[in-house]
Amino acid sequence: MALVEVQTVATPAVPRIKPIIRDVLVESRPNIPIKFNAISHLAYVNRPTVLTMKDLGLPEDLGISPVAVSQPFPLFTEEAIRIMRTEVFTKEVWDNCLQSTAFAKCQIRGHCPKYAPFMYNAWTDPKTLSIISDIAGIDLIPMIDIDIGNLNISVEDEGHDKDRVVNQSDDDVPITNWHYDSYPFVCVVMMSDASKMVGGETALRNGSGEIIKVRGPQMGSAVILQGRCISHQALAALGGGERITMITSFRPRDPMVRDTSVLTSIRPISNPSDLYFQWAQYRLEVLRARLAVMLQELEEQHRAQRPTDVSRIKQFLQLQEEWIAATNKEIVVV
Ligand SMILES: [Fe+2]
Repeated sequence: MALVEVQTVATPAVPRIKPIIRDVLVESRPNIPIKFNAISHLAYVNRPTVLTMKDLGLPEDLGISPVAVSQPFPLFTEEAIRIMRTEVFTKEVWDNCLQSTAFAKCQIRGHCPKYAPFMYNAWTDPKTLSIISDIAGIDLIPMIDIDIGNLNISVEDEGHDKDRVVNQSDDDVPITNWHYDSYPFVCVVMMSDASKMVGGETALRNGSGEIIKVRGPQMGSAVILQGRCISHQALAALGGGERITMITSFRPRDPMVRDTSVLTSIRPISNPSDLYFQWAQYRLEVLRARLAVMLQELEEQHRAQRPTDVSRIKQFLQLQEEWIAATNKEIVVV
């Protein structure tokens, strides 16, 4: 099956969706911790086909990897998805982690690791990270804890006309505006049975301004996107009842790699205290690692009695000034 089809996205219309009913939630998750096991809980088989930046007609150095987006690929087993759902469909998670904005009516955020240790372990497992990194074409680690396993939840309106749903296939109904993500890479996993869903693709804009559509994943499957530097939008999925996607964001493991992360779309849907602790922690850790690398390089150069590379020092310091300024700018005190 072809990965992409080139189409023009039709005039926006708003699908009728509503948040899932809170009454179905249990009080708290069963007190039986289940350990994530890469052998039994990962369903990954082969590296999926990817579209590169070059395939999209975008500059190859626009982002941090030549890979733009992957075809959907199996990542987690059904059992793993079931356990993750058990962790998050509790009253304590919904009381503490529900975010509702005009952009997304029903998001569950910040539940990892406190309320969802299995989900947290699944995303931080070395085997999971090696799969994501291999497909993304660069060594990646999860962004910050608050953006591990973010859930976007929608349920079709009960009054939805079934015929209209079936006939929806030729309509492209955006559920987000065209945007760039705040973080370098994102991995989207389907948490619902998507076998009867129509739509649900991700639309990308290529270098010529054409729209490329990448089909949505099935349950347990994932799509990886370099969303920080590719303009994209999510298209509505209809006909499947509930639709829950789990989104984890990633950044480069190597602290010396460029990282243009911002908090634009994250700030309105996050607890400021948690967000700014995690943001400052990650930014300072990266800075500390960069300083250590630069210091070692300088000292080795000096011990070897080589001339000091002044322009390298100045370039490094300039980049770190920009890093600190960007870090500070994203922390907004209201
Ligand atoms: Fe996005």
